[in-house]
Amino acid sequence: MNAPLPAEVLKQHLIDPEICIRCNTCEETCPVDAITHDSNNYVVDPDICNGCMACVPPCPTGSIDNWRLVVRAEAYSVQDQLGWEELPGEKSLPADVEQAPEPVEAGNAQPSQAAASPASAMAAGAAVPPWSAAHPYVNLYTHKTPITATVVGNYRVTGADTESDIHHIVLDFGELPFPVLEGQSIGILPPGTDAQGRPHHARQYSLASPRDGERAGYNNLSLTVKRVTQDHGGAAAHGVCSNYLCDLARNDTVQVIGPFGHTFLMPNHPRANLIMICTGTGSAPMRAMTERSRRLIGSGDIGKLMLFFGARTERELPYFGPLMKLPRDFIDINLALSREAGQPKRYVQDLIRERAVQVRELLADRNTCIYVCGLKGMEVGVLEALREVMMQAGEDWSILHDVLRREGRLHFETY
Ligand code: A2P
Repeated sequence: MNAPLPAEVLKQHLIDPEICIRCNTCEETCPVDAITHDSNNYVVDPDICNGCMACVPPCPTGSIDNWRLVVRAEAYSVQDQLGWEELPGEKSLPADVEQAPEPVEAGNAQPSQAAASPASAMAAGAAVPPWSAAHPYVNLYTHKTPITATVVGNYRVTGADTESDIHHIVLDFGELPFPVLEGQSIGILPPGTDAQGRPHHARQYSLASPRDGERAGYNNLSLTVKRVTQDHGGAAAHGVCSNYLCDLARNDTVQVIGPFGHTFLMPNHPRANLIMICTGTGSAPMRAMTERSRRLIGSGDIGKLMLFFGARTERELPYFGPLMKLPRDFIDINLALSREAGQPKRYVQDLIRERAVQVRELLADRNTCIYVCGLKGMEVGVLEALREVMMQAGEDWSILHDVLRREGRLHFETY
């Protein structure tokens, strides 16, 4: 066991700006709001962080797991950290400080003593993968050592006359190794610099293709990218990376980092069931998992697949055509359309309620894993729908929710 640190020494929690992909997971997870960010960095406020570790398991890159012993009064401030391009090195502590160990103050637990914080159990999704998930590789390529991929395909997968310009982009890695699993993501480094003259930071995209390639047996993968022309409030905004990607031509090259993600992974054991709930480009990991399963048809190993997919209209639903061609006895497809003329507005959570019997049947099977990806707002709605579905049968969702989290069977990726 680690010896307690002297009271004036802080094991300061820091985020490595060179590895961080600015996915916001840590900020969302932190139960005490100690994590904040600006356009440059995600940082931890030393005056608020209590070292509970809740943010550490969900971080896809591991950039969150950095610590420096500092004299408490000289801790790196939020302002210092926001300006960093890289982490500072370890500093040696003054000799008199190191020689005076005292018990750690209550209420400011050091990370090594707080790994099992109850706060970490409160996140909606699991911090561990399903037991049978394959072992993922992460961080093989970093900001300092990116890999070059070649664009071998880029085409629109939504109706040409619609506002939603969503592209299916295929990247090939040639002879270089880039092992991935369904549910993982990669970072794209867009060329150029930001308003402060700094290189743009990486943008994260989930894979839309399975582990053995967009084309089976090829060293390639695909992404589902929506061209960003508005911010969340509807004001005009130019998405740096999404516009760069959507405008790429065949044979252009792209700088890639990653892969990332070690929890949002599909089960690997025979007859595991998948409940997939997504909106818009959140369909990328669902496409990857569905395609992985489709390629296993015939092996007798696949379980049930149930998909809830939300989009404004059919024409704005990425991959609508290919999705509707999948055999009905392979995947149970439920489309929630919110702006289809002449139809009532439907969200994925409405359809989960409508299919309560089948959802409950799958939830009763320990081989079922649930994946939710897409708009942040749907997270609460989906959880509420699942609670109601269980309640209708007199069952307690909170108990099942804890089991699903503990067993790595419920995963969220929302933005
Ligand atoms: P809406 O028509 O109300 O925007 P987008 O096209 O913006 O990516 O959204 C994909 C789908 O998700 C749309 O149908 C959108 O409906 C729907 N949506 C928006 N907010 C929520 C929410 N809180 N829960 C579930 N679905 C949502």
